[in-house]
Amino acid sequence: MIARTYSATLLGVNAVEMEIEASESPGLQFRMSIVGLPDAAVKESRDRVLAALRSSGFYTPTQGTLTINLAPADLRKEGPGFDLPIALAIVAPREGLEPEKLLECCVIGELALNGELRPVRGILAIALEARAKGRKRLIVPKRVAVEASVVQGIDIIGVNDLREAVEFLRGDKAIAPEPCRAAEFFAAHATYGIDFSEVKGQQDAKRAIEVAVGGGHNLLMVGPPGTGKSMLAKRIPTIMPGMNEEEAIETTKIHSAGGLLGENCAFIATRPFRAPHHTISDAGLLGGGSNPGPGEVSLAHNGVLFLDELPEFRRSTLEVMRQPLEDGKVTIARAAATVTFPAQFMLVAAMNPCPCGYYGDLKRECRCGPVVIQKYRQRISGPLLDRIDLHVEVPAVEYKTLSSTEQSESSESIRVRVERARNAQRERFEKERGVHTNSAMTPRLIRKHCELDTDGAGFLEHAMTNMNFSARAHDRILKVSRTLADLDGNERIQGNHVLEAINYRTLDRALWT
Ligand SMILES: Nc1ncnc2c1ncn2[C@@H]1O[C@H](COP(=O)(O)OP(=O)(O)OP(=O)(O)O)[C@@H](O)[C@H]1O
Ligand SMILES: [Mg+2]
Ligand SMILES: [Zn+2]
Repeated sequence: MIARTYSATLLGVNAVEMEIEASESPGLQFRMSIVGLPDAAVKESRDRVLAALRSSGFYTPTQGTLTINLAPADLRKEGPGFDLPIALAIVAPREGLEPEKLLECCVIGELALNGELRPVRGILAIALEARAKGRKRLIVPKRVAVEASVVQGIDIIGVNDLREAVEFLRGDKAIAPEPCRAAEFFAAHATYGIDFSEVKGQQDAKRAIEVAVGGGHNLLMVGPPGTGKSMLAKRIPTIMPGMNEEEAIETTKIHSAGGLLGENCAFIATRPFRAPHHTISDAGLLGGGSNPGPGEVSLAHNGVLFLDELPEFRRSTLEVMRQPLEDGKVTIARAAATVTFPAQFMLVAAMNPCPCGYYGDLKRECRCGPVVIQKYRQRISGPLLDRIDLHVEVPAVEYKTLSSTEQSESSESIRVRVERARNAQRERFEKERGVHTNSAMTPRLIRKHCELDTDGAGFLEHAMTNMNFSARAHDRILKVSRTLADLDGNERIQGNHVLEAINYRTLDRALWT
């Protein structure tokens, strides 16, 4: 045996440690085999490692058999990040690297042919795994060191190339661990730069958004073009309860696994807003592909997934969202392994009322016939619509309102009410596993927590019999009523809460039956 060291591979958003072992046996011809990697990756890695060794001026074997073993063998290993640990294991004895020192490290990085290091995905998860396994330091490409630096209790050593890594391990070159900047990142990134006060008018839509966020409900906005639906949607994260550090790390891990972080945004402390285009593939939405990375539903974890122009999405695309909407995660089955990504997001959808956009508009006339309109609306899948508790109309805003200089309410002030309502729900559902908000109530919990007074019961009965609501709408009205009472700071649901909740279902009748 020549040498051993540790590395890690991503499995979903988490990393799993693995061992890298190099051994040599005599022979006339040179052969190098890597055991434990998929075939195609082996060849590429071998070529990069040998070229990097040569161009960095290190010993390059020309005789004998060099075997690199990546263990455990049955662990599915992904990505080009094992180049650096493989190269180090090969040069270790000849360059005088102490075996014990190498074993204290977790090493990751892709090598360029000239020995420089290229960044790898998922470095935050890798740092967490290395720490959990008791490694003292993590040696990574300099460019991603900052991404790992939020993990405390392990030294993050950023190196530029293979030579620098060797010099560091030999003790010839001191490299200071990347300072932990979690608090700094948190402070610097916990602001949004946009605010609800910038949206003029649209009081009804803003109220519906507050209710939706207040109870963790999904929301559909319907309105003509240019009335501010996208503008409103983008600002939803700004009134959601602030992210705690745990949520921030979880979200950052997902973005890190997607390779989406850079030096300037190494840490995510604000709730994500993702707005995939309607042409997105199933893999893009759910995750997957040859090297399974997170999809949009996971990138939106702890934040908002905005589906603009909902009817334009392919029906199959909407159908595949049912699992994440139901379970808060996605499971991607692959030949070699099954990976799970978290996917708990608020779904916000927007659409025009008809293909031309102006059905029901007071100023412009709709050019669409009834059949066309019906077809357009039927494009949205029923099961998806079933997961949306609130519908709200976003009509054109009067010029007078648009041009007014009056300040609307700020995000911060709306968030105070949202947080109060959320706190009431946290207490209510403290003992219920997996339920944190009103939207997640099961029928049993609805019966327990949504008792109506005589007024409320009367309004609901009237709506159910006269407005042709489905049984599903019934439960949704109760859940939303619960949220409205919570926003009011009321333990009891009152008649006005039920009336307002019914209002958020009227589109149901008008649009979908
Ligand atoms: N209520 C509003 N207050 C302030 N600005 C607004 C408002 N509504 C629209 N605007 C302005 O109009 C632009 C277009 O709005 P936005 O893209 O949000 O509309 P939309 O409803 O999403 O339209 P579409 O249906 O075409 O997607 C905004 O960028 C903003 O400048
Ligand atoms: Mg828009
Ligand atoms: Zn129309």
